[in-house]
Order: sequence, then C-alpha cells, then structure tokens
Amino acid sequence: MAATEFPALQNDRILRVIKGEKPDKLPVWIMRQAGRFLPEFREFRKQHSFFEICQTPELACEVTLMPIKRFDLDAAIIFSDILVIPQALGVAVEMRPEVGPVIPKPLTLDTIKDLKEDGAASRLNYVGEAIKLTRKELGGKVPLFGFCGAPWTLFGYMVEGGGSKTMSKAKKWLYKNPDEAKKVLDILTNVIIDYLVMQAEYGAQILQVFESSAEYLNRQLFSTFALPYLGRICDQVKLKLKEKNLDVPMVLFAKGAHFSLADQSNLNYDVLGIDWTVEPKIARTLTKDKVVQGNLDPCALYAPKEEIEKLVGEMAKGFGTSKYIVNLGHGIYPDMEVENVKAFIEAVHNVQV
Ligand code: CP3
Repeated sequence: MAATEFPALQNDRILRVIKGEKPDKLPVWIMRQAGRFLPEFREFRKQHSFFEICQTPELACEVTLMPIKRFDLDAAIIFSDILVIPQALGVAVEMRPEVGPVIPKPLTLDTIKDLKEDGAASRLNYVGEAIKLTRKELGGKVPLFGFCGAPWTLFGYMVEGGGSKTMSKAKKWLYKNPDEAKKVLDILTNVIIDYLVMQAEYGAQILQVFESSAEYLNRQLFSTFALPYLGRICDQVKLKLKEKNLDVPMVLFAKGAHFSLADQSNLNYDVLGIDWTVEPKIARTLTKDKVVQGNLDPCALYAPKEEIEKLVGEMAKGFGTSKYIVNLGHGIYPDMEVENVKAFIEAVHNVQV
C-alpha cells in the first residue's frame, strides 16, 4: 500500500524536528505509552492475552489508539513487542503475569541451527497489517512509529530465557563463543532489516530500534557486538527504502549506553534516544548535531504537577529547544497516575520554543 493512500498528516511536529525545522511546540511521546499504566488497557488484558493482542490487527490497533484518545501526544507507537522476532525465528516466548517475557527453551550453541531465518520477517506480516489499519484509524492525527528490538538485546533474551539482572549467560558467549554469538547476531540483523522495511511499506512513519540491554556492555563489547549490527540495520533499511521511494526516519535508543553516545552519533540514525541517566548538556556535546530524544527519569512522573513542570523546564533548557523530541528516559511505569502523564505532556507543550 502506497503511503499516499493514507489520510494526510495533521500533526507533523516530530517529522519537522527531524528535518531540522522548528516546530510550534516541542513534540512529545512516551515509551510504553500503549501499555499497562492505562486502566482501559488493564481491562482489555482481562479479555485478551498479550500475544493475541499483538497478533490481531484490530486489537493491536485499538490499544495503540488508547493513549492517543486520552492525551495530546505527538506520536503513536504500534502495539507489539520486541520479542515477536524470536517467535518468528521459531523460538517460543510466553508473557507471564508479574514475571514478564519467558523463553522456556533458551538458545544454546546446539540450537542455533534450528533458528528459522527464511521467511521470518514475512511471518510478522500481522504487525504490518496492524500498522496499516492503525494508520487508517489514526486519520492522520499523529505519525505512527514502528519498532523492533536490536540484535544484542534480542540475543540476550533468547540466551537468558527472559530478562536477567546481569546478562551473564549471554555475555558468556561474547567471551567464550564470540563466533557463535556473531552468527546469531547476524541472523537477527538480517531479519530485523526485512522486518523494518516491511513495517515502513505497510505505513510506519518513523522506525525506532530498541537496544534496551546496552547497559550490560562496556564500550569495547558494545563496539564489537552491538554497534556494527546497529549500523548495518540503519544503512540497509535506508538503502532498501530508497529503492522503494520511501523515506522513513530512524531512531536508535540504546539504553544505558552513555559510553557509546559519541560512537552512536557516527551512525546514520536520524535521532538518538538518550536514557535518563545522562545529563542533557553532556548528551548534546557527545551527539554533536544529531536530533535527540529523551530523557526524563520515568520516576520523575511520580512528583507533584509543579515539580514535573520544573523538571521538564530544566530538561528543555539543558537540551535546547531545537533538534529535540521529548520523551522519558525509559518506558513509563505501570503504576503511573494518568493525571501525572497529562501534566507531563502539558508541561512539554507549554515550554517556549
Ligand atoms: O511503547 C509502547 O507502548 C508500544 C508497545 C511496546 C511493548 N513492548 C508492549 C508491552 C514496546 C515498544 C515494547 C518494547 C519492549 N519489550 C522492550 C524495549 C523497550 C524497553 O522498555 O526497554 C523490551 C525490553 C520488551 C520486552 C518486554 N515486554 C518486557 C521486559 C516486558 C515486561 C515488563 C513490562 O514492561 O511489562 C514486556 C511486556 C510488555 N510489552 C507489556 C506491554 C504493554 C506488558 C505485558 C502485559 O500486558 O502483561
């Protein structure tokens, strides 16, 4: 489906900022905005399992629109999960209440050969269908983000069998079996490239790559096992999209990778996400002339309204109001009050640009 068949975009603040233009107000969206902090999502989850929502375009669309109906956000993000890629490779993933994602049979050196790379991206066409439907239902109100997990982060979940406090099982491969680790990272990179291109073809207007487990690496490990793959993803996706006459900006969010911000700014991503641990002024210096996105501590939204306003003002002062997209410095917490989220968004839109 050609992008021109969708309703015209009414709020292009984020896209303008990415082009280097000055918007009328600072744009804002929130990582994990389509998730558990919304009472209507919790109600919805009583009727549907997590992956049923991901795999059913009508349901994924409905959840994607929930925060857009409630708040004056400047972007939507398609409801899905980073772990749909391991699923498409034939690795079973369960979403367990109170635990999060669990991979009952973690990847081993012996099971690399069982990964089903062929056709993996097309087994994710249901995400494309959800994107297409959501673009239509959004009616051009705000742009729609597509996303994926980055290779190292997905590798970590696959080897650990879920989340981990140390990622020591996954890091063991990096030190003991680097060639096998690279083989898996390569497979993931190939699937990610096709998957992101597919999302853009179905109508995603911005693509964000989540390297959520960057914090477990140091600069040297990140340079060997993350950065080259992230670079290849960006370059290949852009190349393939250009061949299809599509131009979709790309965002990299490497959580906890303050040590590599200067290295990241040498990649061709249009925007770099900054996590909440980095001081805005330092992030600016390290990322040179890149557009940046972030980075209020998600816990700052527990503060009273006046404090949220003050913190938003300080953050905007630190980043400056050009080349800047406001977000939290990681995903929003499930127990966040809806009123505080409103206060955050209002505070951002009230900043003088
Ligand atoms: O941002 C959005 O609102 C879009 C949807 C989205 C989800 N997951 C839905 C979700 C996005 C962008 C993600 C990305 C994701 N998933 C990441 C990268 C971002 C980050 O936070 O670093 C990671 C690491 C995952 C893996 C994952 N999925 C974890 C660790 C968990 C459990 C923790 C949690 O936040 O709940 C999930 C589950 C998940 N993904 C939920 C939602 C709405 C809650 C599950 C439920 O409803 O039971």
